[in-house]
Amino acid sequence: MAEALERLDISAAHIARVYDFWLGGKDNFAADRAAGQATMEVYPGIRLSAQANRAFLARAVRHLAGAEGIRQFLDIGTGLPTANNTHEVAQATAPDSRIVYVDNDPLVLTHARALLTGTEEGATAYLDADLRETDKILTQAAEILDFSRPVGIMLIAILHYIEDLGQARKIVARLLDAVPSGSFLVITHAGIDLFPDEIGPFEEVLNRHLPGDHHAARTRDEVTGLFDGLRLLEPGVVRVSEWRPGSEQEAATPTTLWGGVGVKAG
Ligand SMILES: C[S@@+](CC[C@H](N)C(=O)[O-])C[C@H]1O[C@@H](n2cnc3c(N)ncnc32)[C@H](O)[C@@H]1O
Repeated sequence: MAEALERLDISAAHIARVYDFWLGGKDNFAADRAAGQATMEVYPGIRLSAQANRAFLARAVRHLAGAEGIRQFLDIGTGLPTANNTHEVAQATAPDSRIVYVDNDPLVLTHARALLTGTEEGATAYLDADLRETDKILTQAAEILDFSRPVGIMLIAILHYIEDLGQARKIVARLLDAVPSGSFLVITHAGIDLFPDEIGPFEEVLNRHLPGDHHAARTRDEVTGLFDGLRLLEPGVVRVSEWRPGSEQEAATPTTLWGGVGVKAG
């Protein structure tokens, strides 16, 4: 924890906290709010898009824990605790669900306690790690998750911070390699073709504020390619609001993100 706190630099924006600002949260600092405001000036729809992303996350986890019987989740790029965190949604359906959270923002680590309040039957754990450290993540997650049984891998609004598509594909492949058939991959990813007029200014402004990894939106075909080798659940890779929406209002929420769920077939 002490080592992680030394990494906490509140003078620069971090995407976990900018995203928290977009969602209307309080876990952000002046630099994050400046980045959040500046991006909203070029693309005001980002707030609704962040909400649509959270709603997708809840629907996907509910589906996996319910109809698909998944009891283990590896959620990489957790974000700051907010409403309907993965363990809350999963354990509301199946109290024995086990969840491992992973994020590289030290502030998320300091809030991890809020993510570790699961049910008695289930378990939650938090790893301070970078998505690129797949071996470290898989080794440490194995203390909580049984990798001989299906796992739901959640990569929600994180892969567009891996700028090199080849590297993103390798990370996904390594994670999928570690889980048995019957496991699921859930991805949401910024779509360059979803807001073509605003994406240029949006990324320019956001990336100017982010000292670390930059935002790199991709096309629907590129996002679909991340599911290579998996069977995509209906309706495939679609706007996150259109993935099995719970209401017409949910379906109509504007979004910058493609989303989909794939299953590793036997
Ligand atoms: C846009 S937020 C999404 C949060 C949550 N998954 C959601 O969709 O509501 C992206 C999260 O991924 C984390 N993140 C970004 N790049 C990462 C990396 N390379 N390794 C680990 N976490 C990363 C950020 O710290 C942040 O919490």
